[in-house]
Amino acid sequence: MKATRLGILGLGTVGSGLVDLLEKGGANLRHRLDHEIRVTRALVRDDTRERRLPSSMVTTDPAQVIEADDVDVVVELMGGIEPARSYILRALGAGKSVVTANKAVLARHGAELLAASHASGRPIGFEASVCGGIPLLRAISTGLIADEVDQMVGILNGTSNFVLSRMHQDGLDYATAVALAQERGLAEADPTLDVNGSDAAHKLILLAEIMFQTAVGLDQIEREGIEAIEPIDIQTADSFGYVIKPVAVAKRVEDALDLRVHPALVPYTHVLGPVSDEYNAVLLRGEATGETLFYGRGAGSLPTASAVLGDIVELVRHPDWRIPWDPAKSTKVRHVPGTSRFYLRFPVHDRPGLIGKVATALGEHGVSITHAQARLVGAEGAAGNLTILTHVTSEPVIAQVLSKIEKTGAVRAPALSLRILD
Ligand SMILES: NC(=O)c1ccc[n+]([C@@H]2O[C@H](COP(=O)([O-])OP(=O)(O)OC[C@H]3O[C@@H](n4cnc5c(N)ncnc54)[C@H](OP(=O)(O)O)[C@@H]3O)[C@@H](O)[C@H]2O)c1
Repeated sequence: MKATRLGILGLGTVGSGLVDLLEKGGANLRHRLDHEIRVTRALVRDDTRERRLPSSMVTTDPAQVIEADDVDVVVELMGGIEPARSYILRALGAGKSVVTANKAVLARHGAELLAASHASGRPIGFEASVCGGIPLLRAISTGLIADEVDQMVGILNGTSNFVLSRMHQDGLDYATAVALAQERGLAEADPTLDVNGSDAAHKLILLAEIMFQTAVGLDQIEREGIEAIEPIDIQTADSFGYVIKPVAVAKRVEDALDLRVHPALVPYTHVLGPVSDEYNAVLLRGEATGETLFYGRGAGSLPTASAVLGDIVELVRHPDWRIPWDPAKSTKVRHVPGTSRFYLRFPVHDRPGLIGKVATALGEHGVSITHAQARLVGAEGAAGNLTILTHVTSEPVIAQVLSKIEKTGAVRAPALSLRILD
């Protein structure tokens, strides 16, 4: 029976999950494929720790894995930019196929790595790097290949979604919800990249590169995190029939591609409304297929390892398989100021006339209000919030009017503005 021999770089959460999955499902896979997939070598930083593999297979020397004769596929599961990037390039140069789950290195050096893959004639699979267990890239690059996908909206970061879900369902404040995510192993000790939109932006880069065949830089993505969201925003959104979700949006606008990551008010009736906790979902709109929804676990040891193994099986079945990639077809990426309804929260002092000042400034800029609530607690002079939902208006108008209102001294802190996804 033929065999594919794996050299794994990294035996952490996902690497150990891959070893587990092969142990549990290897026999079944062997039977279904008439082909064996087995691990022969693994690279770690610390080879004194007990591992799921015999110590004879574990090394701290990358050459013993990357350039080994008994390795056909190098599976990069270390994370980070360097040395992951150099190791992937070395593996392709040594004639190995590569599978990686590393969105950070792909988002930063994807074009270089894909070009190296094409030049070496060896494939690089990276299904696990976007939305963990959801086989999304394969669906886009195979099943939907004949369709012209012009828009994507998704929840790509499970940590942010978990934090906002707990704030909504359990009434937690932001800091307590983040601490709970850390306790459950859903957030790193430093959760910054998850909550400030960077992780979702990395995944959006990869999705956009595959969907729109274009090279995208991190600085071309408009990014807003969820750090400024307070319980009052969650409660007010809820009272109007909305739930706040961390969304990523990619759409063709005129001749360009607009890419952004930000929290938004999503109606309960929208398909993304019920997507809670660490779950991810991606809604694609294609010219031929209309709307297609993908939903599942975006991270975790076994879901992510399952996507890694899916790529390896793809290589077994189709050794010449490549992710379609043609940088020559590049579309311009630019932020196109859009229009939407907005949710605005103005932190105000409880003083006569302040609400009137805000409403007048909005009116002078042609922004009309559909709903408004003021919660001003305590004696006169106490602080509170004025929350407003607007009719459709444009992003530049909202930016102008918020800046004007701040200058009037009517607010005690900058206003929060969130788009409403209708
Ligand atoms: N965890 C998830 O749910 C998830 C989901 C989707 C994608 N991913 C991606 O999958 C990749 C792996 O994530 P993970 O959560 O499994 O990471 P992890 O638990 O931190 O494991 C990293 C592994 O790589 C090894 N390693 C790191 N740097 C190394 C170096 N310079 N030389 C040799 N070995 C090195 C570590 O060795 P030691 O054990 O000796 O420290 C460890 O075994 C990342 O790119 C991540 O973004 C993860």
